Amino acid sequence: MKWRGWVGGLVVACGVVPLALGQSGLDTPANAPRLSDMMTRIQVRHAKLWFAGQAQNWPLAAYELSQLKTALAEAAVLYTGIPVSNVTTMMTPIQAISDSIDAKDNKRFAKAVGDLTDGCNACHGSMERSFVMIRVPTENPFSNQVFRQSGKR
Ligand code: HEC
Repeated sequence: MKWRGWVGGLVVACGVVPLALGQSGLDTPANAPRLSDMMTRIQVRHAKLWFAGQAQNWPLAAYELSQLKTALAEAAVLYTGIPVSNVTTMMTPIQAISDSIDAKDNKRFAKAVGDLTDGCNACHGSMERSFVMIRVPTENPFSNQVFRQSGKR
């Protein structure tokens, strides 16, 4: 799909070098959102993606997936201390989620979101942030948004 090349191209074009370990590449560039704030948004998309899938609202799931994908790519470009390999490995589960959405396949969707979640935690572990443990959500905190597709509030 298009975005796969896009993320790779973006990362290469910006000369992001993997393995600037430690805090160095995690300093906030001027006028950029803080990485932890970007991550908090990614966390929101991760949750909404899940609940959209649970409600079989595939257009919403596709939308949240695209938001999540873009935010991850932006984080990788802005924060050179994030190992690029940990971002690019996320593209496999993201593609699998995209395929499951196209196929409207609940089971594949659940498996792929689980794999994505493992990817979140793998990077956190490699960045000495294993205490930020992500899991597939259980309860939907977004009661002000409708997740089923009927269009009724
Ligand atoms: C390529 C590396 C990487 C990936 C992939 C990644 N994260 Fe993170 N995440 C980080 C780093 C680094 C921090 C710590 C940022 C800091 O301390 O400033 C972080 C922090 C967080 C935080 C803590 C934010 C806070 O202020 O409480 C959350 C939540 C989070 N990530 C969610 C996710 C989710 C959900 C995913 C998967 C969809 C994910 N992350 C994928 C690197 C990653």
